[in-house]
Amino acid sequence: MWRPPERIRFEATLGHMPTREEAARSRLFSPIAVGKTTLEQRTWIPAMVPWRATDDGFVTDDVVAWYRRFAEGRPGAIVVEATGIRDVPSGPLLRIGSDANIPGLARIAEAVRQASDGHTRLFIQLIDFLNIRRRPEREKFIRRFLHVTDQHRAHLGMPEADEATIRARLAALGDEELHRILSAAEREALDFGYRERVTDLHLPQVRELPAVLPELFAAAAARAERAGFDGVELHFAHAYTMASFLSRTNTRTDGYGGSIENRVRLPLEVFERVRATVRPDFAVGCRYLADECIDAGSDVNDAVYFGVAFASAGMDFISTSRGGKFDDAKQPAVGWAAYPYTGPSGYECMPQYISDASGPFGRNIAATTAIRKAIRNCGRDTPIVCTGGVHNFEMAESMLASGACDIVGSARQSLADPDWFHKVQIGRGAEVRLCEFTNYCEGLDQKHKSVTCQLWDKLEIGPGVKTSSDGKRRLVAPSWSPS
Ligand SMILES: Cc1cc2nc3c(=O)[nH]c(=O)nc-3n(C[C@H](O)[C@H](O)[C@H](O)COP(=O)(O)O)c2cc1C
Ligand code: SF4
Repeated sequence: MWRPPERIRFEATLGHMPTREEAARSRLFSPIAVGKTTLEQRTWIPAMVPWRATDDGFVTDDVVAWYRRFAEGRPGAIVVEATGIRDVPSGPLLRIGSDANIPGLARIAEAVRQASDGHTRLFIQLIDFLNIRRRPEREKFIRRFLHVTDQHRAHLGMPEADEATIRARLAALGDEELHRILSAAEREALDFGYRERVTDLHLPQVRELPAVLPELFAAAAARAERAGFDGVELHFAHAYTMASFLSRTNTRTDGYGGSIENRVRLPLEVFERVRATVRPDFAVGCRYLADECIDAGSDVNDAVYFGVAFASAGMDFISTSRGGKFDDAKQPAVGWAAYPYTGPSGYECMPQYISDASGPFGRNIAATTAIRKAIRNCGRDTPIVCTGGVHNFEMAESMLASGACDIVGSARQSLADPDWFHKVQIGRGAEVRLCEFTNYCEGLDQKHKSVTCQLWDKLEIGPGVKTSSDGKRRLVAPSWSPS
C-alpha cells in the first residue's frame, strides 16, 4: 500500500473514557431516526468485505458468524459488505442478484437480530462493478488479447501484413518500442490488465447501463427487504460503476456524463426506482465519496452538490467515504488484477498509522462537515454518517458535537474490538482493544483471503474455534462479556 512520504507515525489512544452515566447522556449513545426506522445509538459499522462467501457468492456459516459477532457488540447499525446485484459469476463476492440468494441473506438478518436482541439495525450495501481482468503475461497479451489494427500495421510499416505476422513482429519488439506502438488503452491493458470504464460507449453493456441499473438495484433491494434487512446502502463510492458515473472523469455524451447534473442523473434514477420498489419504512441511503482524491477527479464541491441532490431526492441516510480509485492504483503483479486501494487515493480511503501531518484519524471530517452543512442549509435533516480513523469515544462525540455528522462509522476499530461501543457505554472503556491502523486486515482483503485482525486472530485457538483454512487464524474475535 502507498504511504505518505512524510512517514509520521501515529498511535490510537483511548482518549477520555466516560462513566456509564456520562455515556448515557452523550450524543453517541442517543437515538436517531433513519428514515422511518430508528437507531438506538449513533454507532455504525460500515461495510467490510470479509471474504467468507462461497465461490459463487452465497452466504456461508462463516459469513453468518462474522455478522453475529459484530451484533454482539450491539452497535446502532451494521452495514453488510458490498454485495453484487447481478446474477453473474463474480468470484467469492457476496451476491443478491437472484432469489436463490435470499435464504442465506435471511440467515444473516436473523443472526443479527438474535445476537443484538433486536437492538441493532441491519443494512446491506448493494454494488455494481464493471469488468476488470488480471494483468496478462506480455506474450499472452500480444498473442491472444490484443486486437490487431491498421494502426499497428502503419507503425510497423507493414500495411499488408496478416494478423499473425503483426503479432509475431510486436512480440519481437523491446518493451519501449512496443509501448510506443500501442494506444494508451492497449498499454493499460498490457501493464495493468484490461478494465472497462463507464465512458466506453462503444461497448453495448456499458452503453446500456442507465437502462438496466435502476431495475437491477431495485430488484436487489426488494430481495434485501424479503430477507429481513432494515434497509439498503447504495454503493456510490470508491472505484465502482456508480461512483464512476458521479466522477468528473465521466465524459459520457448520452446525457449521463459531462456536466454535474448529468453525472448525478443515473444515481438519482437508481435511488428513485429503488425507493418506489420497497416499503416506505425500508431505509434507502447511499455511500459516496466526499472527495475522489485523484487528479481531475470530483472534489468536495462536487460532493456538496451530490449530497444536496441525494438529500433533496429523499434519501434516508448519506454515508461518506473518500478515495479508493483505480486511477492511481499500483501496477499489479502479472496474474493479479489492479486493486483500487493501493495508491494515494487508496490511502485516503483506509489511512494507516504511518501518515502525513494530517494523520490517519478523521481525514474525511472537513469534507463531510461541508456536505452536512449544505444539506442542512437546504432544509433537509438527512442523517449523515462519517467514517475514517474513528477509534474512541472522545473523537466520536466531538464529531457529533461539531456538526461533522449525525452518526459515527468505525470499520477497523470495530473489527479490532466488536464490543468497543458496548464497553464504552457501560463505563468499561479501559478494556477497549484499540486498532493499531496497520492495515494487516486490508492486506488480507487485497489478496481475497479471510479478513481477520492481528490483535485477536492468534488468541485462544482451540477446540470449537473456527479458523482460516490453514488453521492459523481464528475467524472471529474472542467473545467478551461484562461479567
Ligand atoms: C477489510 C475491509 C473491507 C472493506 N470493504 C468495504 C466495502 O465492502 N464497502 C465499502 O464501502 N467500504 C469498505 N471498506 C472501507 C471501510 O468501510 C471504511 O470506509 C474504511 O476502512 C475507513 O474507515 P475506518 O478508518 O473506520 O476503518 C473496507 C475496509 C476494510 C478494512
Ligand atoms: S488488523 Fe486489526 S489492528 Fe490492524 S488495522 Fe486491521 S483492525 Fe486495526
